[in-house]
Amino acid sequence: MAGDLRIGVACKRMVRFRFDGETLTACEGEMLASALYAQGRRTLRTSRDDGGPRGAFCFMGVCQECVVSIGGRLTEACRTPVHDGLVVESVR
Ligand code: FES
Repeated sequence: MAGDLRIGVACKRMVRFRFDGETLTACEGEMLASALYAQGRRTLRTSRDDGGPRGAFCFMGVCQECVVSIGGRLTEACRTPVHDGLVVESVR
């Protein structure tokens, strides 16, 4: 399924990364939110208010809906390039 939503992208190198313990693949340098979205991962965190699912919305660093944890640090998935061995956790 990876790559089904990528249009006109020349992927020079596929890399592996982990999301909530699952190994996934992406084009090296692709933004994490896009890589997850392309593989059907829509929920990146849950709301502190109501526990509802949250995921990438603006894809440009404005809404903060795509925040994930990388090495214990909260960061925007839409502004984080994927690299080989990246380990990502959803935020609950
Ligand atoms: S999708 Fe809006 S800040 Fe990342």
